Amino acid sequence: TDNKDIRALIEKAEATHILSKDEIVTLLADTQYQDEFFAAADRVRQKYVGDEVHLRGLIEFSNICKQNCLYCGLRRDNKKVNRYRLEPDTVLDFAVKAKSYGYRTVVLQSGEDEWFSVDTMVDIIKKIKELGLAITLSVGEKTREVYQAYRDAGADRYLLRIETTDKALYEQLDPGMSWDNRVRCLKDLKELGFELGTGCLVEIPGQSLESLADDILFFKSIDADMIGVGPFIPNPDTPLAEEAGGTFDLSTKVMAMTRLLLPDINIPATTAMETLNPQGRILALQRGANVVMPNVTEGDYRQMYLIYPGKICINDTPAHCRSCITGKIRGIGRKVAETHGFRIKRA
Ligand code: 5AD
Ligand code: SF4
Ligand code: FES
Repeated sequence: TDNKDIRALIEKAEATHILSKDEIVTLLADTQYQDEFFAAADRVRQKYVGDEVHLRGLIEFSNICKQNCLYCGLRRDNKKVNRYRLEPDTVLDFAVKAKSYGYRTVVLQSGEDEWFSVDTMVDIIKKIKELGLAITLSVGEKTREVYQAYRDAGADRYLLRIETTDKALYEQLDPGMSWDNRVRCLKDLKELGFELGTGCLVEIPGQSLESLADDILFFKSIDADMIGVGPFIPNPDTPLAEEAGGTFDLSTKVMAMTRLLLPDINIPATTAMETLNPQGRILALQRGANVVMPNVTEGDYRQMYLIYPGKICINDTPAHCRSCITGKIRGIGRKVAETHGFRIKRA
């Protein structure tokens, strides 16, 4: 591919939001016109979702997980983690505080912790809904019936990354888990009327650019409403300790490509990106992202929710993160949104 073609591909992506797998790979591989590529993603972001940045208050309510994903610090075989689960009343307390910081959404995230029964979750969801907040759940694979109960209780959105669309790689990285079941979960969630969030890891060992292109095409085919993309960061307490990690540039390229091809969805500037670059979230907001998820978990729990090393904000308070991130957003001429920030379909 010569230079003229790269530029033409960027223009095509910006104008039509449609590229073939080969075309996606070509752009992901290019480094020469990277800045023009990011600028195109930023324009599409501006055109479709505007200058507002949606803040979602993240509550990490349990780091206990029955799964054993090779890349993740919370995997059940990692004996070095101090495990915790918050009392439902504490989760509510953090949600009340999230509201007081002006956040319109809380994200309830945990490992796959069976202690939180359907009834317990339904109770938490109903009480948080009474505060007028939108709720995003990120609690893993469940049956359709359980998802239905969460939805009936008032949960609005659900995050479940596909991690990789390479089935063989997925099942190697997530021992005991089934890729088909994960897709079943995503389809059930969509059918039940949740706003669907998914996403992938970037540069996980064994992944190719072709595979990342498949991931982006998968996001489109499943009509995802939110896509979270982040670099793989090796965790010393996992079997992938010695593997190479992902890069900031390729992670943001996958994110920018997602913006170009799914122009009206919500895309977070992920925490993992800032772990690799001190300006990571702000740069991500200038490469296609329009959402940030500041942590509202209090006390020592943040340090215990260590999926990968170098996680940001682990010694900061919710109030500090709130002023830090709003200052940075305003610093690049963007606004903090005051709406709930649901996807508005425009494409
Ligand atoms: N590096 C980066 N992201 C990770 N995740 C899990 N382990 C890592 C890691 N080592 C991501 C997964 C998961 C989310 C909760 O965290 O994509 O879906
Ligand atoms: Fe558990 Fe999620 Fe970590 Fe896998 S990635 S071990 S399911 S917390
Ligand atoms: Fe937590 Fe900046 S957002 S310290």
